This record gives sequence, C-alpha cells and structure tokens, in this order.
Amino acid sequence: MAEFSQNYDGEHYGTGYSRAKDPIVKLNLLDEDEVDAFFEQECPKYVIHSAAERRPDVSEKDPDGTWSLNVNSTQHLARLCKKYGSWLLYLSTDYVFDGTSPPYQPGDTPNPLNLYGKSKLAGEEAIQEIFDNYCILRVPILYGEVEALEESAVTAIALDLRKNPIPSQDDWATRYPTHVDDVALVCRQMVEQRSIEEGFRGIFQWSGNEPFTKYEMACAMAPIFGIDSSSITANREPPTGTPRPEDCCLDSSLLEGLAFGNQRSFSESAQSILKKSVVVID
Ligand SMILES: NC(=O)c1ccc[n+]([C@@H]2O[C@H](COP(=O)([O-])OP(=O)(O)OC[C@H]3O[C@@H](n4cnc5c(N)ncnc54)[C@H](OP(=O)(O)O)[C@@H]3O)[C@@H](O)[C@H]2O)c1
Repeated sequence: MAEFSQNYDGEHYGTGYSRAKDPIVKLNLLDEDEVDAFFEQECPKYVIHSAAERRPDVSEKDPDGTWSLNVNSTQHLARLCKKYGSWLLYLSTDYVFDGTSPPYQPGDTPNPLNLYGKSKLAGEEAIQEIFDNYCILRVPILYGEVEALEESAVTAIALDLRKNPIPSQDDWATRYPTHVDDVALVCRQMVEQRSIEEGFRGIFQWSGNEPFTKYEMACAMAPIFGIDSSSITANREPPTGTPRPEDCCLDSSLLEGLAFGNQRSFSESAQSILKKSVVVID
C-alpha cells in the first residue's frame, strides 16, 4: 500500500483482516458473501492477492484452515475476477519447488514438499483452471519492517538470537531473502505493465540475488544486538519436522529483462530494520 500510495497514479484500496485499520479496509476472504459485496461495490480493475497462511509449521497443523485461505479463497477471487473482468496478481512461493535442482525457471515442474507449498501450488492451479487474465508472482523468504520480530521468518531469527544465549541456526537450506518493498515495487510495475499491455499474463518470479542460510543471516544480524557471531552454532543437518527444500533459487530474469524491480543488499537493510526494532523493543 505504501508503494502504491506514493508511486501509483490511480485509485487503489488495501484490504486486511485482523490488523486492518484505516485506510486499510477490513475484508475477510473466508467470507464469500463479504468478498462478493466488495467486488460488486468496487469493481476492481486489478487485484493483488497476497493473503495466505505462509508458515509451513502452522500449515501442517491446520491443513483445513490453510486450504480454506490459500486455495478456496483464491479460487473464489479468481471466479470474481473473471466475472468482473479484473486482472489477478497472485503472490506465490518458491516452496512450490522441491529445491533439488536450482535455479528454477517459471515453467519448471513444481514438486512441493510440504502442505504450505502444496496449497500455494493448488492456488496457482485453481486460478489457471478458471481463466487466463492473471499473473502469478513467485517470491522466496520475505523480510521488511515489522510491528513485532516474530512477524517474518527472517526477523524471527533475530528474536531467537536475543532469547537464546547459545543460538543454533540452520546452515543447510540456502535462501534468498527478499525485501517486501522490492516485491511491492515489482507488483506496482506489473500492474502498470498490464495497464498498457493487455496480454501481460503468466507466471513470473522475483527474488533477492544474495544466497544466505539462516545461520548466515543470524551472523549478519548479530552485531546489532552486540552478539559475537562466533557464538552462533551452524546446524548443517537437514531440518527434522516439516520438510523444507534445500535450495529453491528462483530465476528472475523475465522481470529483470523488463528492467523491473530492485534487489537490495540483505545485511545492510536487515541491520537498519533491526536498529528500529531494538528501539521499539528496548
Ligand atoms: N513471508 C514469506 O517469507 C513468504 C515467502 C514466499 C511467499 N510468500 C507469499 O507472499 C504472500 C504474502 O505473505 P506475507 O509474508 O505477507 O504473509 P503474512 O505476513 O503472514 O500476512 C498474511 C496476510 O494475510 C491476511 N489474512 C489472513 N487471514 C485472512 C482472512 N481470513 N481474510 C483476509 N486476509 C487475511 C493477513 O491480514 P491481517 O494481518 O490483517 O490479519 C495478512 O495481511 C503470501 O501469498 C505468501 O504465500 C511469503
């Protein structure tokens, strides 16, 4: 919403749910009547669908709730978009891939390892079955400014560092932390592209270009808390519990070829986010 409010030359609405406060409109995507009424009133030309249950461990424990939000509400939105002639931009994930043969092109065969990845892929497929006036944008692990450190998987590492005197972090899976403002920029550019190119449709990917394990992210963030990175243990074993892919590097060259987006440095921007959080927390 910040990206659109500052840089988009057109009327736009943001919707949310439990944290919605003015100007964000509260809209429960699980309530089909409410969503129907919203479309009837606003007739949106472009819709960006980013709401999801995106925590793989929560998804495993609540498959029905995850499916309702990630698949059923996506299907309903696609049907409404078809009815109202709206273009749908659906945020998806690198976890649609199994992480065994990176880098992944948009057309590569998905093979999600966990329920979260399966539900996001089912969301992609539901849209594709309904109509073709859509773009899918797959992104990897996200971070950005937060209200609380547990809000993103990246800032949650910082929370772990603060709570745990001898932290151990995963050094097995390679991830590509991507700043939400960089994703927001791509979303705006995709909307603008669609407004000038009717045929702008299909599957796209956007990713930060710096590989990090969670252990390496922890080492990059440690100095902010005065923690010596040599006190952090690198865990090189594949994780137990919810299966996760080893390396889902997403090829972003389709959008890079259109001169879209920005890929900021992780260490610098994570430290600047944490400096603000430290002030809030302390
Ligand atoms: N975060 C990542 O690392 C990551 C990685 C790859 C892909 N993605 C994808 O990127 C997209 C954005 O993820 P995110 O990190 O922003 O997720 P998030 O921080 O967990 O936010 C989820 C959003 O869904 C909304 N929501 C939840 N239940 C809802 C309901 N019943 N009706 C309407 N809205 C509801 C929440 O609104 P309230 O907060 O107001 O309740 C919240 O804005 C998702 O599609 C996700 O699959 C995320």
